[in-house]
Amino acid sequence: MKFFVDTADVDAIRELHALGMVDGVTTNPSLILKSGRDILEVTREICSFVEGPVSAEVVALTADEMIAEGRKLAEIAPNIAVKVPLTWDGLKTCKVLSDEGKMVNVTLCFSANQALIAAKAGATFISPFIGRLDDINLDGLELISDIRQVYDNYGFDTQILAASIRTANHVTQCALIGADVMTAPPAVIKGLANHVLTDKGLEQFMKDWAKTGQKII
Ligand code: E4P
Repeated sequence: MKFFVDTADVDAIRELHALGMVDGVTTNPSLILKSGRDILEVTREICSFVEGPVSAEVVALTADEMIAEGRKLAEIAPNIAVKVPLTWDGLKTCKVLSDEGKMVNVTLCFSANQALIAAKAGATFISPFIGRLDDINLDGLELISDIRQVYDNYGFDTQILAASIRTANHVTQCALIGADVMTAPPAVIKGLANHVLTDKGLEQFMKDWAKTGQKII
């Protein structure tokens, strides 16, 4: 499973990139707001060192305007994936831009039917939001599983980009289901290294080592 980082915080992306943990990046208007930076400028900086797909989201609501914004975003770098919402106009935009050879990430997906029509419109990535479904007491992981089955039934090559990931368990379950990609905030990715027994075991090893009186260097 590929790891995308869900942030526009360049320092956080650089830290994970140095460890080989960044197969791509996703941003959205809320993350751009959080970064406090200009969308074109920050996206350009991210693309200067991230080799994989970098999603940048359009903000218009009509297809003509989304297409224009998408083309402008795609000029930033060849690895831009234009992110469009899963609306009828977003699907029109997806078809036009994917026919032009651009990567398109269709976002705000909350049903298997939405994922099905995004694949038909030529989406490179479909972004089902797990956490936001869990927030309203639905099962976000079940959606990932349903989309996996639908895409496999018919051989769609649209990649499932599991989004709105909040927990380490979301990551594990996405990997078991067979999501192609997951995107998570830096803190969730760093948290994957944590285990209470690792901390406990290390603490004991340090105590015992101190008692040996030895040094390695
Ligand atoms: C995906 O591309 C979105 O940017 C993101 O995963 C949304 O996550 P949230 O529901 O935690 O805001």
